[in-house]
Amino acid sequence: MGPLLLIVLSYLFHHQLEVLALATSSDHDFSYMKSVYNATNLPLKEEYDYIIVGGGTAGCPLAATLSANYSVLVLERGSAPLSYPQLVLTTDGTVDVLLQEDDGKTPAQRFISEDGIANVRGRVLGGSSMINGGFYSRADDQFYNQSGIHWDMDAVKEAYQWVEDTIVFQPNLLVWQSIVREALLEAGVDPDNGFSLQHLVGTKTSGLTFDNEGKRHGAVELLNKGELKNLKVAIEAYAERIIFSSKASASGIVYSDSMGRTHEALIRDEGEVILSAGAIGSPQLLLLSGVGPLPHLSSHKVPVVSQNPNVGNFMADNPRNIINIVAPFALDASVGQVVGITSDFNYIEAVSSVTSFSFPQPFSFYPNNTGPLELSVATIVEKFSGPLSSGSLQLVSSADVKVSPTVRFNYFEDPKDLARCVRGMRLVGDMLKTDAMERLKLEDLEGADGFKFLGPSLPRNLSDDASMEAFCRSTVTTIWHYHGGCLVGKVVDGDLRVLGTNSLRVVDGSIFNTSPGTNPQATLMMIGRYIALRMLQERAAK
Ligand SMILES: Cc1cc2nc3c(=O)[nH]c(=O)nc-3n(C[C@H](O)[C@H](O)[C@H](O)COP(=O)(O)OP(=O)(O)OC[C@H]3O[C@@H](n4cnc5c(N)ncnc54)[C@H](O)[C@@H]3O)c2cc1C
Ligand SMILES: *[C@@H]1O[C@H](CO)[C@@H](O)[C@H](O)[C@H]1NC(C)=O
Ligand SMILES: *[C@@H]1O[C@H](CO)[C@@H](O)[C@H](O)[C@H]1NC(C)=O
Ligand SMILES: *[C@@H]1O[C@H](CO)[C@@H](O)[C@H](O)[C@H]1NC(C)=O
Ligand SMILES: *[C@@H]1O[C@H](CO)[C@@H](O)[C@H](O)[C@H]1NC(C)=O
Ligand SMILES: *[C@@H]1O[C@H](CO)[C@@H](O)[C@H](O)[C@H]1NC(C)=O
Repeated sequence: MGPLLLIVLSYLFHHQLEVLALATSSDHDFSYMKSVYNATNLPLKEEYDYIIVGGGTAGCPLAATLSANYSVLVLERGSAPLSYPQLVLTTDGTVDVLLQEDDGKTPAQRFISEDGIANVRGRVLGGSSMINGGFYSRADDQFYNQSGIHWDMDAVKEAYQWVEDTIVFQPNLLVWQSIVREALLEAGVDPDNGFSLQHLVGTKTSGLTFDNEGKRHGAVELLNKGELKNLKVAIEAYAERIIFSSKASASGIVYSDSMGRTHEALIRDEGEVILSAGAIGSPQLLLLSGVGPLPHLSSHKVPVVSQNPNVGNFMADNPRNIINIVAPFALDASVGQVVGITSDFNYIEAVSSVTSFSFPQPFSFYPNNTGPLELSVATIVEKFSGPLSSGSLQLVSSADVKVSPTVRFNYFEDPKDLARCVRGMRLVGDMLKTDAMERLKLEDLEGADGFKFLGPSLPRNLSDDASMEAFCRSTVTTIWHYHGGCLVGKVVDGDLRVLGTNSLRVVDGSIFNTSPGTNPQATLMMIGRYIALRMLQERAAK
């Protein structure tokens, strides 16, 4: 397949010229399949310069970049996207992929945190970028400031652009998204920042990893930007533990294939092992390999390689609180395209869906409907930056990597998080009072505010802290931006090397002490590219 066409769009914003180079080709590029191997077909022992565990959102750009000059093995426990094209390669599949029953091989692995909140993580080449909402927005300035990583901001920008020119698209706004845009502006979330990938206070339309033809383009397509002859991607390859030689130096990975056979992949001199197994997978692998809190390792009889009380700690998940409104007219299903960003770190997004219900007759809105009813549901989603509350992750099994660890996020444990939710939901309440939202009201509905809510509606008195707090707590769910477990300064250093070890780094959402921007995938892909370039430069300088 030839190189993708680039379109260069110029936007004038705040007296600043922003040049955006986005992808224009909507064709899926499956060139990377030349480098994909069923783990069962790989040798039981082999050497590479770099071994990356997890072919996910950060792992794919990292692997592609390192392959420019070195041999790279990616170990991915899931299968390739082509095994489930309808679920992971289309916009329509976004809901279905999350509803599908988890059979241990499906692309969305379900888990329930100790908080009792249902959650999922990606289990497919491309990682969670293949099952997510596709919303693409760069990090906030505060993030760089607090990350503990020394950033070269020009290189950061280039790394984002490297991602964007291949898999990021400007969406055509759908009806519900346009309404939300107007409602945000009317409710005072200004200025209007048009279309932008930057984190800007106000209301904007952001980029998407979905194109306008209904196709998803996840991190997996970034593999195409690598030197495919240097790249081997093993699928259905479950990493079980890191092999350490003397001085806590990582020298390889033990992994198993789908036939249950054990393989050893080793690194050459000056090579490294990089964990990109996600915020649940990477701390789990460190613990399984003997890097973690002594009492926890001892209680599971894991031989200690390097004691570190912080592995698996500071696990955080941004709460999501929503309201659902039954629209009085048919709305197209839409993934989030628009976001409102307040100066006090509340983020408002929206989705719409078409759902089938059976209602008994007579049903007041559509009086002569008899069968299952197709309802358009318009959803407003609130999230906030941070969060400050956090919990921890612990092994359940030290023998089987397939047994997920337990994780607790302690939603709203910090009162500041609760106050942020209350502020955000008050803003949603203000949006409901705007002219833009009038169209969503039902003429024949008495009382309420004219809206027909599906599920809980906001408290009637938005000024009442106690009822707003109760709403936040009782309706909390996840926006799937969980992170932590291998924090910078606690588990890894500013170059993402694991403290107390050699030749080992972690590059994924587990290193974050806060979720970057409104949504993290842009920054995760940027970091994969950014760190790999730095690794190449360091090595070339030797
Ligand atoms: C339903 C959902 C919706 C979301 N919506 C958005 C959105 O719209 N916008 C946005 O920016 N973010 C969104 N997110 C969040 C974002 O997708 C994630 O934060 C991000 O993809 C995480 O990237 P990662 O590289 O840390 O991990 P992942 O992308 O999850 O990659 C980890 C990879 O490691 C593999 N792995 C794990 N353990 C092992 C092992 N032992 N051996 C081999 N392989 C292993 C996994 O299979 C996976 O492929 C969403 C997430 C979900 C789940
Ligand atoms: C990999 O090979 C094994 C053994 O032949 C097979 O059972 C499995 O389905 C294959 N996986 C994929 C993704 O092709
Ligand atoms: C973060 O920003 C604040 C204020 O802008 C500044 O005082 C501080 O030094 C910055 N910290 C880092 C780590 O850059
Ligand atoms: C059903 O409703 C539609 C539109 O409200 C109306 O045109 C139609 O006549 C109704 N049908 C019956 C059987 O009442
Ligand atoms: C709303 O709540 C506030 C704070 O609890 C209270 O002072 C006010 O009287 C309430 N308003 C109404 C209309 O109940
Ligand atoms: C590639 O590797 C060679 C030899 O190790 C080195 O001289 C060269 O600078 C490297 N290039 C890059 C881009 O890293």
